[in-house]
Amino acid sequence: MVHTQVGIVGAGPAGLLLSHLLHLEGIESVVLERRSRDYVEKRVRAGVLEQGTVDLLMATGVGARLAREGLVHRGVELRFEGQGHRIALSDLTGGRAITIYGQQEVVKDLINARLSAHGVVHFDVGQVTVHDANSTRPIIRYIQHGRQSEIQCDFVAGCDGFHGICRDTIPASLLQVYEREYPFSWVGILVAAPPSSDELIYAYHDRGFALHSLRSPEITRLYLQCDHKDTIEQWPDERIWEELHARLATRDGWTLRAGPILEKSITAMRSFVVEPMQYGRLFLAGDAAHIVPPTGAKGLNLAVADVRVLSAALTKWFRTKSTRLLDAYTATCLRRVWRAQDFSSWMTTTLHRVPEAFDRHLQLARLRYVTSSPAAATSLAENYVGVERV
Ligand code: APR
Ligand code: PHB
Repeated sequence: MVHTQVGIVGAGPAGLLLSHLLHLEGIESVVLERRSRDYVEKRVRAGVLEQGTVDLLMATGVGARLAREGLVHRGVELRFEGQGHRIALSDLTGGRAITIYGQQEVVKDLINARLSAHGVVHFDVGQVTVHDANSTRPIIRYIQHGRQSEIQCDFVAGCDGFHGICRDTIPASLLQVYEREYPFSWVGILVAAPPSSDELIYAYHDRGFALHSLRSPEITRLYLQCDHKDTIEQWPDERIWEELHARLATRDGWTLRAGPILEKSITAMRSFVVEPMQYGRLFLAGDAAHIVPPTGAKGLNLAVADVRVLSAALTKWFRTKSTRLLDAYTATCLRRVWRAQDFSSWMTTTLHRVPEAFDRHLQLARLRYVTSSPAAATSLAENYVGVERV
């Protein structure tokens, strides 16, 4: 039977970065991914990297293209009542910033790094199951090229996202689930047009929330709030542009550049956390353990934070057989997870149109406060670029 030190389910940011970090410590792993390489490298997702994420990718040798192509942003705009208000992220946080770099670009860089280092990443695998997680020899079984295979592991990392199988390997009676569904979703589009602003714009509007983001000097990323029951068929291009122009308009005549829509999708808005993030030798990381609404741009960054903790804890065990960091894994990760949940909840409940007039007054009071008080703006800024200590 094939053996590896760490079996990793999922080749998203969490699984690939974990495999890379373990490799740097001389620890072998096998990554099992159900989709094709082409699919995971083209899957359009968010693109905001916190300072800590950028620093880690650079420090571990996978940030060269990020350094060349990433767009460093030192401010973000909140737009409401027809006026823009810049939050000076770097001025308020001692120089920290965010970098815009598509998640699929991070995935491409990590796959290249793993394959260049002769790492083992199996794509197109089916029917992955995890067995004996609560033993010292967990097993992963899967099908590849029509053949049943299995790997005996010292540890298994469940990096298979919200819809994966690893979380369900943990007996439901042991799991505490915390979740919140929002009554709205986002229509997201990728547009072949130069961005209309150098920075992100979060717009609060009576017709609903809108977000202007970027991917490159030629590609704009835009989102707008829709009802959580909407389907993408209800959002033809004409309706999308009508809403975006209205919601992003300003008194001084700022204009949004339109262009061909390259990709269109609807993203549900939910918060989700499971506790514990461990069951015996199985450890969950990233979306397998928690989901945040995209308003705070924390999803990818939380996945990175989890695997940074897990890699250090596994390295400690392989070096010393000490379980101290592994035993603290859930508590360590969840401190940052709940900080991100709180910030994402604040951004989501502040910026999205809600039916209750009382809440709309609270939203405007929050927006006026955070754009006029340096203390409030600093709080937003340090959460947005990524808090250093939790
Ligand atoms: N077997 C093998 N692979 C699986 C299985 C399975 N049963 N189920 C899911 N996967 C794969 C998916 O195809 C995906 O490539 O696991 C990977 C999980 O990746 P992500 O969903 O990207 O999750 P994660 O790596 O935690 O990254 C979190 O991704 O979804 C975004 O918004 C999220 O930005 C956040 C980031
Ligand atoms: C994106 O560019 O995809 C993006 C930016 C900011 C967010 C969410 C998504 O809050």
